[in-house]
Parts: sequence; C-alpha cells; structure tokens
Amino acid sequence: MPLMQLIYASRPFGFEAQTLDDILLSARRHNREDCITGALICRADLFLQLLEGPRAAVTRTFGRILQDDRHLDVALIHVDDIETRLFAEWDMRDDPPHSWMWSQAEVRAGALRGATAASVQAIFARLAQEPARGQAQQQALPAGG
Ligand SMILES: Cc1cc2nc3c(=O)[nH]c(=O)nc-3n(C[C@H](O)[C@H](O)[C@H](O)COP(=O)(O)O)c2cc1C
Repeated sequence: MPLMQLIYASRPFGFEAQTLDDILLSARRHNREDCITGALICRADLFLQLLEGPRAAVTRTFGRILQDDRHLDVALIHVDDIETRLFAEWDMRDDPPHSWMWSQAEVRAGALRGATAASVQAIFARLAQEPARGQAQQQALPAGG
C-alpha cells in the first residue's frame, strides 16, 4: 500500500490548552481508524504537523483539517511518497517546545517562511528520535503498515 507523508504549517486561532486537547483527542481517534500516524508541534503561534499513512486516508484527513476553523493560514510544506514511517507508534505525537526549534520571536520574524521543506523534515526526524515524555496514546500498527 503506498504511504504518503504530508507536512503543513498553520496558525492557531485563539490558542488554548483545551482546544489543543480537543484537537488531539479527535485526531488520535480518527487516525487510529485510518492507519495514520504523525506528530503535531504546537506553539502559541504555530502548528506544524506531519501526517503519514495510506495516501487516500492522508488526503481525506488533510481535507478535513483544511476546513477546520481552529487554525488559519494553512500552508502545505511537503508531500511525498515514503517507504517507512517516522512516527509508526503514534496516533499523533505532540510535543512541547524544544530549544532547538524556532523561538516565538523567530516564528514571528518569519522563520517558517524562510525554511525549506528539507529543514522542516529534519525537525520531525529529530523529534522522532527523542524519547517521549509521559505520553500515552500509542498505536501498534501491523508490520509494514
Ligand atoms: C492543527 C490541527 C490538527 C489536526 N490533526 C488531525 C489529525 O491528525 N487527524 C484528524 O482526523 N483530524 C485532525 N484535526 C481535526 C480535523 O480538522 C477535524 O476536526 C476532525 O477530523 C473531524 O472529526 P470530528 O468531526 O469527528 O470531530 C486537526 C485539526 C487541527 C486544527
């Protein structure tokens, strides 16, 4: 089954912790059913999400995400076929800010606009290597899935 990786950035609309919890709850429920895995990096001023899974499911999910009024300015950064998943064990990993990512000031100054798809992919590759801190919500995909 062809797997696809999709990365986009967007701007949270009126960001609140509860909103993020709601997004993650619904994302994880849907993704588990759709064999989608990935990670969502959240800042007060930035969502950066990587989705990976069967092409049709990722496309359908991104279609719903595009319509979601909890964020604005959705900008597609990267789409490609992949052989292996980066976040195979995660319905949707979330993560607190990292010192090696952009600061809020850098985001405001347009760090994302200047970033290449490869540099954003590298951020997720690095996140995938990091042990998770106290997070549950893992899924076990069938081998090769
Ligand atoms: C930043 C962001 C990330 C999201 N990520 C996902 C996701 O990974 N999978 C998903 O199914 N929905 C995701 N959603 C939610 C969808 O936009 C949509 O609300 C949801 O899939 C609809 O499900 P529901 O009607 O059952 O609540 C995300 C929304 C936002 C704002």
